[in-house]
Order: sequence, then structure tokens, then C-alpha cells
Amino acid sequence: MSFLKLVSRFVLLSTLLFALQACGGDDSDQRSAQTETEEPGLTEFELEHGIGPITERIEVDDEIDQELVTQGRNIYEMKCEMCHNMEGRMVGPELGNVMERRSAEFVMNFILNPSGMTNNHPVGQELLQEYMTSMPFQNVKEDEARAIVEFLRDYNQNN
Ligand code: HEC
Repeated sequence: MSFLKLVSRFVLLSTLLFALQACGGDDSDQRSAQTETEEPGLTEFELEHGIGPITERIEVDDEIDQELVTQGRNIYEMKCEMCHNMEGRMVGPELGNVMERRSAEFVMNFILNPSGMTNNHPVGQELLQEYMTSMPFQNVKEDEARAIVEFLRDYNQNN
């Protein structure tokens, strides 16, 4: 292979790698916003309910909102099911019983800010160590994360 060809191949490869990395960095803005707080310790709220855009308790009715459940199920099937099982671990932890372990706010913050959680929250750090894969931000909006919580609550109550 000529030297010129070799060089052009190298350039092509580096560009590709760079583009790939850029694709994976969807939530990097969010992450730097999250990690740049000067505060080393977490607030009590953060410890209990996670780090991310959800910074106060949300309203959760005892009664399940079936419309939200359907919306949540659709998003779950598209964006979560490839890594999570309802029963038993897969790439990530079992989610059928997650509402027994965590608050709605915690689950929403995990969905909305997974890297912030695994970098800065003790529970997230532990999970990352155990599962050895970083959960990616899946471009889920806040109201969609809320719908997923409703789907998980419904599953938990009926299974
Ligand atoms: C590429 C695989 C992958 C995808 C896609 C993914 N997750 Fe995760 N998830 C993980 C892994 C791995 C962990 C454990 C933490 C870590 O290592 O980042 C995790 C952790 C979690 C946790 C914390 C569980 C606990 O016990 O506290 C929740 C909640 C969660 N994921 C929900 C979701 C939801 C909802 C979606 C879809 C919007 C989703 N995940 C998409 C891999 C994934």
C-alpha cells in the first residue's frame, strides 16, 4: 500500500472513531453540569432520591394512572428492554421490583442522569461496579420518565 493511501486510511479511521465518540456523548452537557458543583457531599434529598433534574418530591397517587402506564410501557419496550428484565438481572438490574427498592424520584433521576448517578451517587457507583456497564442516557424526557415509573409501579403491584 502506498504511503499516501496509508495516511488517508488513518485519517478516515480517526474521523470515524471521533464521530463514534461524539455520538456516545449525548448526555455530556448534563454530566458536566452535574459534576461541577463544588459540594463534595450530597444533600439528604440526593442520597435518598438521587442526583439529577428531580430535586423535590413529586406527586404520586396511590391509584395507578393506566394511561401513563401504557405510555411508559411503550417507552420501556423501545429504550430499556434491551438491557433490563422485569424478572432477573440482564445487562442491568432487575426492574420488576425496583419500586420496592427506590423512590419514584430516584428512578427518574437514574433514567434522566445515569452518568451523574454512577459517578457521584454511592448507590450508582455500587451498581456500576456490580454490572460493569454504564447505563446510557436514552434521550428520555422528564414526563416520559414519570410514565416509566407508573409502568414500573403497575408491574410491581400486579406481579
Ligand atoms: C445499555 C444498557 C442499558 C439501557 C439501554 C438502560 N439501562 Fe438502566 N441500567 C443499566 C445498567 C448497567 C445499570 C446499573 C448501573 C450502571 O452500571 O450504569 C442500570 C441501572 C438502572 C436503574 C437503577 C436500578 C436500581 O436498582 O437502582 C434503573 C432504575 C434503570 N437502569 C432504569 C432504566 C430505564 C427505565 C431504561 C430505559 C429508559 C434503562 N434503564 C435503559 C443498563 C441499561
